[in-house]
Amino acid sequence: MPERRDFNAAAAEWDEKPHRIRLAQDIAKAISAALSLSKTWDAMDFGCGTGLVTLNLAQNLGSIVGVDSSPKMVERLNAKAREQGYSNARGECRDLEQGELPDGRYHVITSAMTMHHIPEIAPLLTALRNLLHPGGRIALADLEAENGSFHEDPTGVFHHGFSHEEITQLLVRSGFRDITVSTVTEIIKGERTYPVFLATATAG
Ligand SMILES: C[S@@+](CC[C@H](N)C(=O)[O-])C[C@H]1O[C@@H](n2cnc3c(N)ncnc32)[C@H](O)[C@@H]1O
Repeated sequence: MPERRDFNAAAAEWDEKPHRIRLAQDIAKAISAALSLSKTWDAMDFGCGTGLVTLNLAQNLGSIVGVDSSPKMVERLNAKAREQGYSNARGECRDLEQGELPDGRYHVITSAMTMHHIPEIAPLLTALRNLLHPGGRIALADLEAENGSFHEDPTGVFHHGFSHEEITQLLVRSGFRDITVSTVTEIIKGERTYPVFLATATAG
């Protein structure tokens, strides 16, 4: 079993990094623009963390459930949803790689900066596809292919980003169609700039 990153240890201070807040805003904006979100839609945010993207999207959706395998991350999301008065957003602790699937079906599934922490992506994307209503949409944001310098600590990092071609092929193999991939923002760390893509697709 490959070693995983301890996201519980990071949860309390996750929101204290301004670049994470800005990144989540950029990603939520790009998702909203790409998918024309609707208040009649139920959504799931996979690997939601403290809900930085989840809560940004909530105002444009009927409901959104953030799913994360870290109980401390989910605790933070639920506390923030309560404090900020989001009655349509909540978090659930589930490890989707272990088959801990939610009961619901969704019109849209989002995910931000999580896929590079997943060793086997195609089975996970297939599981996400099966949680979508027919014709449901997926929106994945993550690092574009990089040289491994993004994470100072490589624990639990299984991919050094993804090329547009690679993420397209993974979505095709997992039963998605109508795939678009574009660069939507970037993360600046020291002297380096790391582009971030948004891939959208329809459950086939
Ligand atoms: C880099 S964080 C991103 C958090 C959030 N999306 C954001 O943009 O701030 C990745 C998250 O994915 C979660 N995660 C990793 N593997 C998971 C799995 N198998 N099932 C559910 N969540 C997972 C981690 O616990 C962590 O909170």
